[in-house]
Amino acid sequence: MRSHAGPMSRASAAIVSPDPVSVSRTLRYDQTFFRRLYQLSKPYWVRKGSIGSWLALLFLLGTVVAYSVCGAWITELTKDQTNALVNRDISAFWHLLAVVAVLTGVRYVISTIQTAVDNCLDLHWHQWLGEYFLSRYFNRRAYYKITVDRTVDNADQRMQEELSPFCTMMSSFPRLGLGTLVDAAVQLSLMLSISQELFWTVTTFVVIKFGLLVWIYNPVIEQNYKVVDAEGDFRASIRHVMTNAETVALYGGEDPERWVIIKHLRSAVRLRLRRALYAMWINLAQGGFSTIWLVLPFVFLAPAYFRHELEYGTIAQGIAATALLLQSLSLFMQFIPTLSLSSHKVARLGEIAEAFDVLEASNPTRQPGIVEFKQGRDIRLDNIDLTTPGGEQLIVSKLSMHVGPGDNWVISGRTGVGKSSLLRLMAGLWCKGNGAVTMPPSSEMLFLPQKPYMLPGTLREQLFYPHKPSDRTDAQLQSLLERVCLADLAARCGGFDTSTDWSRVLSLGEQQRIAIARALLIQPRFLFLDEATSAVDFATERSLYGALGASGITCVSVGHRESLLNFHQHELRLLGLGRWQVRHVGTGAAGTGAAAVGLGAVAPTAVSPAPVRAGVVAAAAGAVAGVAVTAVAASAVTARASASQECAAAAS
Ligand SMILES: Nc1ncnc2c1ncn2[C@@H]1O[C@H](COP(=O)(O)OP(=O)(O)OP(=O)(O)O)[C@@H](O)[C@H]1O
Ligand SMILES: [Mg+2]
Repeated sequence: MRSHAGPMSRASAAIVSPDPVSVSRTLRYDQTFFRRLYQLSKPYWVRKGSIGSWLALLFLLGTVVAYSVCGAWITELTKDQTNALVNRDISAFWHLLAVVAVLTGVRYVISTIQTAVDNCLDLHWHQWLGEYFLSRYFNRRAYYKITVDRTVDNADQRMQEELSPFCTMMSSFPRLGLGTLVDAAVQLSLMLSISQELFWTVTTFVVIKFGLLVWIYNPVIEQNYKVVDAEGDFRASIRHVMTNAETVALYGGEDPERWVIIKHLRSAVRLRLRRALYAMWINLAQGGFSTIWLVLPFVFLAPAYFRHELEYGTIAQGIAATALLLQSLSLFMQFIPTLSLSSHKVARLGEIAEAFDVLEASNPTRQPGIVEFKQGRDIRLDNIDLTTPGGEQLIVSKLSMHVGPGDNWVISGRTGVGKSSLLRLMAGLWCKGNGAVTMPPSSEMLFLPQKPYMLPGTLREQLFYPHKPSDRTDAQLQSLLERVCLADLAARCGGFDTSTDWSRVLSLGEQQRIAIARALLIQPRFLFLDEATSAVDFATERSLYGALGASGITCVSVGHRESLLNFHQHELRLLGLGRWQVRHVGTGAAGTGAAAVGLGAVAPTAVSPAPVRAGVVAAAAGAVAGVAVTAVAASAVTARASASQECAAAAS
């Protein structure tokens, strides 16, 4: 499967568009509906290598014509066969019967092959479109934007449930359309040869019925859309309880959870009931149409037969033509109910595809009011003003800082002041504001978020996340676990290839240690830790930072704990309302735990709103840090031994 991601610069690829993404919500058979139908279908049919799909489609259309020709032939023979029966022409009768039987058999064979080819085309389209949607979902972190903004709800349901019926409907459409048209044309021309009056009446009837069906089924699109939406919310609310089962159980929050779920259930049922009541009117209308259809040929042909102007065979032919026409047209007419069952899917898929279009078209690096992103060796923030995505809160104003290799920074401040937001900026998730950010390539960075994340998979996959497991021996992985004070984890869980629900089984502190193990395995140049050691005790924290320091990883940490100052050379303290303060806090000799620096003991080196260029300060401190890191790197071998001792000490 090829990558479907569109071309874009490396810098902008990492940045999530700051603009709110809105999509039109039209639920009628209008221009938007048909545009969406076209835009959802087009990528499959214009993709590279689509020739096979076109050949399958042409084959299907060819069989449609063959099927209809056989049908017309049968109708033609019906007249002769019936007359032969009436005239007691035995040999003609048996001959015609044999031909009709063969033709009927051929029609069955054709329709079976048609169904098989149709299914293959449908399933291939489904797989291709599913992968296409998924690649767009992950492209430029669209999944993040769509989820955080709630641009389109229940994206999972849209991509899982709606794609298959859409492909089925669209792959059968050309066949049904052409087959019906050919059948209808043949049967109508036959009817024209029998009775002009009957022909015009039937044609008018068909046109009126078609128009009425479109009109009757128009509201069904919205009804179905709302039912599916409500069912999606119902399912999501149950899934929410499953995901947070332990939290809900500890709170004893069953009642409020049940009320929320019941509210969604009732809403879904109410909407289904409304749809069912409306379906009653549709059934009545359909029944009326069918009755008229049955009576119609007799009304026109029987009087002429009684006046001896028509043979009995002609009446039979008229009835057969009407029946076959009804059969063909009912396929066509059924297409409207089928379409109405799938039209809300077109709307739901169209909405998400349009959100992807908007996100892929936006270029956040070149807009005013957006922080400019560049790529470089080090981390550099130049004159940054950062606000929350909606612009409600100013996080920092005119912030400049430079993080060079070996230059550990800690970002501190009271809760809710914007520490994690600053990391979101560095990760390219937020970019509303001004100034410029220079970041290393994403392959050289790793972000450990405030909420630890455990992949549903094996312990080995956990450790390598977000990369695929590579060739490390179990002994190497075991020594890695020892460095993060999880020496007994693999043995306790049944080895590195054991799968379990890690986020439920492991304690918060253990999950945080797994995250540090990932960093030690991946060895990024820059590691961002958002309260990544907040759940472990001080001794373990010291040991973890010791391991990171020994690996030569530069850390940018976020946290409240003063103990963190021991492992960093610089502190950026956020003071609220955009104000901030930078200060030099110590040697950052990671893992020593000796350089405990009290906050009051350190003088600020840069403050807002007229900050000293923090880069200058950082550059000056860089020399000290460089020495510290070299020293730490030189003692990397002994660091591991001492880390294990510290783990043991922490455990005791
Ligand atoms: N998506 C969002 N839209 C609008 N405001 C947000 C959004 N996310 C966070 N905020 C607000 O931005 C402010 C800073 O949030 P942030 O998560 O950066 O705080 P923090 O300093 O990391 O807090 P804590 O120490 O509690 O983790 C908070 O007031 C928060 O409510
Ligand atoms: Mg935070």
